[in-house]
Amino acid sequence: MALSDDLAQLAAGIAREAGALARRRRAEGVHIAATKSGVADIVTAADREVEALIRRRLADARPGDGFLGEESGADVGTSGITWVVDPIDGTVNYAYGIPAYAVSIAAVEGPPDPTTWTALAAAVYGAAIDELFTAVRGGGAWVHTAAGPTRLQVNPMPVDVGALLATGFGYDPATHAGDLARVERAMPLARDLRRIGSAALDLAYVAAGRLDGYFERGLNPWDHAAGALLVEEAGGRVGGIPGGRPGKNLTIAAGPELFAALDAAIGGR
Ligand code: IPD
Ligand code: CA
Ligand code: CA
Repeated sequence: MALSDDLAQLAAGIAREAGALARRRRAEGVHIAATKSGVADIVTAADREVEALIRRRLADARPGDGFLGEESGADVGTSGITWVVDPIDGTVNYAYGIPAYAVSIAAVEGPPDPTTWTALAAAVYGAAIDELFTAVRGGGAWVHTAAGPTRLQVNPMPVDVGALLATGFGYDPATHAGDLARVERAMPLARDLRRIGSAALDLAYVAAGRLDGYFERGLNPWDHAAGALLVEEAGGRVGGIPGGRPGKNLTIAAGPELFAALDAAIGGR
């Protein structure tokens, strides 16, 4: 089996185990452990426990790999592979009891820097509804449910009715006016707009054709590392400010034609 397939299989198994832990802790009751960048940016005890589990499992399986996790920081490896992990993406949903949260795990080649890395394998696990999305570079993107695996394909450009878009708003209230201005510029392309609350699921849903497109400013590497590979392997495009990679300034994901239209509407600003 090729390295990327091995990495995807490892990511999928660990994502399922980590998601099961998050689900169990959610059922027991959620405790806010701290706030981070601002009062709205919370971390629960489960975020930390789930990341620790993922980090342990990866270190046991592949001790030479690097690690970049939202809750426990970065470790440089020796193998050239780095794991980029968001243990619970959608923490506010998780804390409120909304089931739209996911474990996001990506294996990337190169340094832990989204402007230069190449994602090789990805797993996004919607733990609350037991839905696993995986991708392997060059091997497609898949959703695995009780009914078995199904290959993912982004939607073509919607005609007439407009696109079902999703977006997000960061935790910093100072950025909300700019976020709303961007929404206003994108709305002429839209039939409607969703704010699901998990960037990893937004991207997985674009890959699955459940959304036509997604855009958001302010994402961190662990928010988009796995989801971006899902979209690309489902035939879509993911980018940032024009010509750039996805990142803090902007992330846009959609099928190629809608991507170009979104890029023209919001990419430069
Ligand atoms: C957040 C979610 C949310 C997005 C925020 C992210 P977290 O991640 O992905 O949808 O709008 O920008 O920070 O904090 O729940 O892991
Ligand atoms: Ca996140
Ligand atoms: Ca998180």
